[in-house]
Order: sequence, then C-alpha cells, then structure tokens
Amino acid sequence: MTKRYPPINPKCPHFLHGGDYNPEQWLHMPEVLKEDLRLMKLAHCNAMSVGIFSWAALEPEEGRFTFDWLDRVMDDLANNGVFAVLATPSGARPAWMSQKYPEVLRVNADRTRILHGARHNHCYTSSVYREKTALINRKLAERYRNHPALLVWHISNEYGGQCHCALCQDAFRTWLKERYGSLEALNQAWWTAFWSHTYTDWSQIESPAPHGEWAIHGLNLDWKRFVTRQTTQFMKNEITPLRELTPNVPVTTNMMGTYSGLNYWKMAAELDVVSWDSYAPWHGVEEDWKLGSSVSFIHDIYRCLKGGRPFMLMESTPSNVNWQEVCKPKRPGMHRLSSLQAVAHGADTVQYFQWRKSRGSFEKFHGAVVDHVGHENTRVFHDVEEVGQILEKLDAVIGTTVHPEVAIIYDWENEWAIGDLQGLSRKRRDYGGTCVAQYRPFWSRGVPVDVISMDSDFASYRLLIAPILYMVRPGVAERIGKFVEKGGTFVATYWSGIVNESDLCFLGGFPGPLRKILGLWAEEIDVLHDGQTNVVIPVSKNGVGLTGRYKARELCDLIHAESAQVLAKYGLDFYKGRPALTVNEFGKGRAYYIASRNDDRFDDDFYEGLARGLGLKRVLGTRLPKGVTAQLRTDGKDEFVFLLNFQPAARRVNVGREGLSDMLTGKIVNGTVTLPAYGTLILRCPRAG
Ligand code: GLA
Ligand code: ZN
Repeated sequence: MTKRYPPINPKCPHFLHGGDYNPEQWLHMPEVLKEDLRLMKLAHCNAMSVGIFSWAALEPEEGRFTFDWLDRVMDDLANNGVFAVLATPSGARPAWMSQKYPEVLRVNADRTRILHGARHNHCYTSSVYREKTALINRKLAERYRNHPALLVWHISNEYGGQCHCALCQDAFRTWLKERYGSLEALNQAWWTAFWSHTYTDWSQIESPAPHGEWAIHGLNLDWKRFVTRQTTQFMKNEITPLRELTPNVPVTTNMMGTYSGLNYWKMAAELDVVSWDSYAPWHGVEEDWKLGSSVSFIHDIYRCLKGGRPFMLMESTPSNVNWQEVCKPKRPGMHRLSSLQAVAHGADTVQYFQWRKSRGSFEKFHGAVVDHVGHENTRVFHDVEEVGQILEKLDAVIGTTVHPEVAIIYDWENEWAIGDLQGLSRKRRDYGGTCVAQYRPFWSRGVPVDVISMDSDFASYRLLIAPILYMVRPGVAERIGKFVEKGGTFVATYWSGIVNESDLCFLGGFPGPLRKILGLWAEEIDVLHDGQTNVVIPVSKNGVGLTGRYKARELCDLIHAESAQVLAKYGLDFYKGRPALTVNEFGKGRAYYIASRNDDRFDDDFYEGLARGLGLKRVLGTRLPKGVTAQLRTDGKDEFVFLLNFQPAARRVNVGREGLSDMLTGKIVNGTVTLPAYGTLILRCPRAG
C-alpha cells in the first residue's frame, strides 16, 4: 500500500526552502530588494512567502489596488528561480477598513470591541470582512494565476482567537438550532437545570463570558466547536475565488502546533496541504532530547492531519524568536537538526519566519536569515545555507511517508473538555504531556508512530494508545472494541471513558463505554500533591517485563478488575494491593489499563515489553542511545532513515543493517557510526524483498 505522494505542487519537485519575505517594508530602499535576490541564491532558498501582511500596501484606499510593487517582486523571484508562497492578506487589515467598517473589529469575551491595531483580530462572521477578503483574494488570483512564481496559496496567517460580537452571537444561535433542533434538546445536552440555567428562548443564549455564563460545560464545548466551524467557514470563503481561478495551485494555512483554540482535525479537511509554525524553546530547562520528542509528536500530528501526506514546515526560526521567556539562539548544529527533524517526520519544506529582520517595530529582534548587518557573513546565514544545500540532495525523499504500526490518539475536543473540567487538580491534567509520555518510549526506540484523532480509522494499526480518553464520542468505543476483537492491542490510561460528546458523565460506572473492553470499573481517583507518591509493584508474571518498583504520582485511579487480569498493584495508602495495571483479553486482542501516572521508567519498561511482545518494527534493529531517534520515510521501494542526535555531545549508534548509504556523501555506512553533538545522518536503503 505504500506510495509516493506527488510534490506539493508538481511545478517544483524539490524541497521548498525559504521564508516569510516582507519586501513591502523596504520599497523605499530598492538596493535592499536587489541584495535580497543575491542572498537568496547564496542561502540556497527557492521559495519565499510573500504578501502575508501586505494589505495596506495592496489596497491603500478602499477599491484602489496597487499591485505594481508585488508584480516586480513576483517577477524578480521568478527570474531568480525562486517560487512564491503567495499569501492572502487577511491576517491584518488597513486602518481605513477598521475606521469605515467597525464591524470587522473583533469583540472580546468581555464584550468590548477592540480598537484598530496589531493583527489576527478580525470578526470571522462579518459579511463586510468576508466580502473584502474574497475581493482582494480574487484580485490576487486574477493577477497572478499564470505567474511562473506562484506555487502555493498561504491563506491568511495563523487563524486563531474568538469574536463575541452580535453577528457572531446570532451565527452561534443559528448553528445551535441546527445542531439541537429544539431548546429542550439543548437544555438536556447542556444539563441546564443545574443552577437554574434553563433557557426558555434562543435569544437568551450568549457565548461564554467572564462576567456572564462560564459555568455550563456543554456551552463552553459547543462554543469552541462553533469557533472552529466559523473560522473554517471564513477560511473557505477566502479559498473559493482561489480554487475557482487557480484550481491547480494547492492551498494551505499555517497552523500552530497543538494550539487549543481550533480543532485542526476539522480545518485540515478543507486544505490541500497542511503546514505549521514550529518554535521550540531549545537549550532551555528541559533537556533538548525530551523537548525534541515533544516536537516530533507534533510533526507526527501534522503528517496524520492529511492521512500521511507530507506537510509543510511553514515557519521556524533560523536562530531565536522574540517572544519566549528567554529568546535563546540555536546552538551550532541545532538548526540543521531541527530542520531535518521536520523532514524526518514528513515535511517537504523547511521555511522560516523570517527572511530579513525588519528595521523597526515589534519583531525587529526576531531571528532571520538576513540580520541587520545586511551581509551573508553571519553564523546564522551559514546555518541556513547548509540546510539549503542538504535539502537539494534530498529530492528522492519528496512525497515519501511512513506507515506506523502504532497510533496514539490526540483529540482537540477531548483536550477542551479536560481543560474545562472542575475537579482533580488544575495543574495535574496535562493531557498533552500525558500523550507525549506515551509517545517518548517509541521515539527513543525508533518505532514510528501516527498521532490520530478518535475519529480516525484504526484498522491499519497493531497498537492503539488512548491517553486520558476522558471524552468518548458516539461510535468510538464500538470502533475500539472492533479493533481489539480483531486482534489489536489497546492501551488506555486513568480518567478515560468519563463523559460523552456533550460533556455529560456516563452513568453506570466508569470507564463508561470502554468498561467491557477494558474489563474493569473505575470507582474513584486519588489526586496526589506535589511530592506525594505511591508505588506500583508488578506481579511476577506480568507478561510485559516490568520489574522492581515504580513511582506513581499525581493521579491514581482506584479500579476494580472485572474480567481484567491484574499485572501490577499499588503498594501504599488505603488502596494498597488494588490494581494499578490490568489487561483484558477481548476477542482476539488485549486491552491494557494504566491506572496511575507513573515515572518515565514505567512507561519505558511497559512499552518496551509491548513492543517486544508484539514484535513491532524498529527503523533500525539496534538499541539507540538515549536522546537519539531514528525515523523513517519510504515509497515502498527505498527507505530513508533519519538518525537524529538531540544530545549536546557525540553519540555512537550501531546502524545494524546492511546496504545503507549516506545520502549526503554517497558513502556506504555499516557498523557503528558516531553522530557529533546535535548530529544528523540521512541514510538510504533499498528495501529488502
Ligand atoms: C508567528 C507568525 C509570524 C511571526 C512569528 C514569530 O508564527 O505567523 O508572523 O510573528 O510568529 O515567531
Ligand atoms: Zn464577530
């Protein structure tokens, strides 16, 4: 079933390398624009993202369009072999528009309308803003539809936030009417009899507000769903003229990792290719390899958002950002490592924010390919140049993907519900961290993983892991049940199977619809303070190779094994001797339940046991040193192995297999190789058989 996806745009069957380019800031200094073209070539850049915040330069007065400068930029790019990732400008608007049509300005949750300023703050319902964006997008598409530079449409910029204006309230009510049909149904779903919050007229419904309704969990959840729906509609309105005029130019919008404000599983469906902006705080308090595995987790989400299709790394910094607590430059080697890491997980581009540092305003100290000094003799420029040279040697990797045997569920709606719940402990939820904790043991072993939603198809996997599957939407438990019955292995953690899609608790015993599959009843959950721990003691024949004692912290589910078999027990407190890890035979498969949040050693040993037991394929057959991962891309004929060392010191790796060659030097590689600090190695291997 392995195949090679076509390049993002067949016009360019190479990696895209480049960044956000803002020539409109330099129109008064034409020598700078000329120099940019020389530097782009030197940096081995072939794609620039233009127009992202150019609206004021493209339409300085209502209805007066000034494309001449962009014409020149597009021509210059094309004449220099550089493609344009052409943006629609809706991420920020000209002052005249806010002044003349205040409805385009967003209203905050406290119901104050913002003044004109900053960016990413429009109303996504306003028909004026929708008309204005559709018009400028149409003009752009009409003008550049046949331009040789046009490669990809970059829709807006980092959609996000919410608008609470009257137009949005009306649209929300209309959406709710469609969803529930009747107020009775809505009142039931939201459990509004609580605190006398019953609605008797649709007009009484308001979006959540700090000085109004914030206590109905069903409302909060539906509001977030609506925000995704409305943002997606706004985006589709932007896309319509582009698809009409340039049907062959792929459309993307740059997303923000696991940004919680939008359900990217929904938005991705409307795009041809997904892209994201990755800004990891390297060299911070957390060890780089741990952070690296969290970043890999997100890259894997992006590959899975389009079912395995390569994605774009739309933004990353060549050095530092300007908005983190501490804005540290990347240490030597980290730029190459983090760029190739994206590629290893399925990116077909390495792009930056930003090409050139602006001279003034908010982002003047944000890392860029070209610094204020203006020339190419900087460390950062050379780092970028090196990445460009490497990418030019990786054409064979374009369009390749991976078909993991393991999948972890990461679900935005689940995250919303977990974030909103009252109880347990505010800081102990950590849905994302719990997902990464289950992911890291595979990353460390070079076992590829898909990160999917609970609505994804599970059939192609052998191991399915659902960390804190608090919300279980209709049909999900049934599909998990089928997966296990047919021989699949399922792992769930504590605090799963608690609420339905409306955030109503399952009655009759947790984990609700997962109870039969897991063979247990979760009666209570203990919440531990900082420093408090319990111990998890494996039984002697636990079948997953657990030995010694493990530490449990933060959350300990107090469960009763029903049909499940107990593999480990708690060692302390009033629940000493009660199950801490169970397995249930279900059809031809097995379902494990990890009842407590455990130390890393537990996760590592447990998943090692599962991986061994299931004989999961590893990218390399050998043991990887701590902090080194191996990732795979393939077209079914050739395998491309990415060895990545996230340690600030050299590590030796036994590649184990025969027939590997270094893609950058062409040299045959076997036996043990040394990866320098933050070192990378890309190996090509014809697939056996
Ligand atoms: C985001 C935006 C960019 C820029 C960078 C800075 O990703 O899309 O315009 O502000 O952040 O890191
Ligand atoms: Zn609005």
